[in-house]
Amino acid sequence: MGSTDDLRFMGAALRLSLWHLGLTESNPSVGCLIVKDGRIVGAAVTALGGRPHAETQALDIAGEEARGATAYVTLEPCAHHGRTPPCANALVAAGIARVVVCQTDPDPRVSGRGLSILRDAGITVDVGLAAEEGRRVLAGYLMRNTKHRPHVTLKLAVSIDGMIGRPGEEVSITGPLARAQVHVLRAESDAILVGLGTALADDPELTVRIGAMQQRSPIRLVLDRRLELPLGSNLVRSAREVPVLAVSVQGTGTDACRADAEGWNARREALMQAGVEVLDVPDLAGLLHELGGRSISTLFVEGGATVAAAFLKAELADRIILSQGPLEIGPDGLESPLRPSDMPANYVLVRSEAYGPDHCFEYERSS
Ligand SMILES: NC(=O)c1ccc[n+]([C@@H]2O[C@H](COP(=O)([O-])OP(=O)(O)OC[C@H]3O[C@@H](n4cnc5c(N)ncnc54)[C@H](OP(=O)(O)O)[C@@H]3O)[C@@H](O)[C@H]2O)c1
Repeated sequence: MGSTDDLRFMGAALRLSLWHLGLTESNPSVGCLIVKDGRIVGAAVTALGGRPHAETQALDIAGEEARGATAYVTLEPCAHHGRTPPCANALVAAGIARVVVCQTDPDPRVSGRGLSILRDAGITVDVGLAAEEGRRVLAGYLMRNTKHRPHVTLKLAVSIDGMIGRPGEEVSITGPLARAQVHVLRAESDAILVGLGTALADDPELTVRIGAMQQRSPIRLVLDRRLELPLGSNLVRSAREVPVLAVSVQGTGTDACRADAEGWNARREALMQAGVEVLDVPDLAGLLHELGGRSISTLFVEGGATVAAAFLKAELADRIILSQGPLEIGPDGLESPLRPSDMPANYVLVRSEAYGPDHCFEYERSS
């Protein structure tokens, strides 16, 4: 659908929207281009923190040039009076002649209404251009607004013989290029999660440490039923700079552990004193619901094996990224619950790329 120019401009709007992924709080990161006679006269992305919206900024840049122009917007323009007036009305007032929309907004305050405001004002509206690409870029926002939980990406690095590591040893399965990609994925996420096993084995910091993205570290979560995250770990020591949540999921061992009320409360108190928030949830679905309520739209799960298997079993992994390196770990390794040669049937390969000697495979859940 759409002319080559339409696709080109919507592609540019989608790329622009990536700039602020993970940085717009409860609002989606939207891209908007204003195009007059084939020239881009205004372009903007939702501002850091979620306001102002992309459309009003792009219209400001375009000024009088917006009259008679086409607006390319990655999400249906808003129709509700929040802290800012509706963007749909701003497009009408600016004299825009045509609006091309990638994705409609499932937010009940907007859904269809933004389009109606435009059409009622005589503006030509085309919807659904580059919809597949838009669905991926806006996956977090769409998931939170339809299922009230974040969109979950599960990422694992797997050796050529299907292992994710070796007990008691830190093994680099992939090289620097593939590892840099992990930092980009972290920066685009609202939250990162690992299991206690990984926190103990690798003592990771789980922050973004590449280029100009150092300020983009999302909050970090550790699944830690018994609250055993060491106070001297890198995660706890950095909790005052980048928030850390120790998440106690009900299950084997939790009841016995909580029966020792004194020890439990002491560990809880010590973590809280160190700046860590402690969260009790009934199960993983309950955790995701809690995160959705906190405007977390995307969760990046970085392992290890037990946690990855738990997300798969609960059918809560929406996207899987497997990076496979050429290293052979051998039978004493920690087996991955997933490998590219043996993926569950309901995951579809949507992308594969090479980063030096490593291959990165991206899958989406089809059902
Ligand atoms: N190659 C990679 O991509 C990669 C990534 C990360 C880690 N690793 C490696 O993987 C190893 C760690 O993996 P692991 O399997 O031992 O540990 P893990 O998956 O990191 O963590 C397991 C821990 O999480 C806790 N947990 C709490 N709630 C849970 C829930 N609902 N579901 C599942 N777990 C829950 C478990 O508690 P309970 O004991 O109470 O159940 C368990 O202690 C390390 O060697 C690390 O280097 C590799």
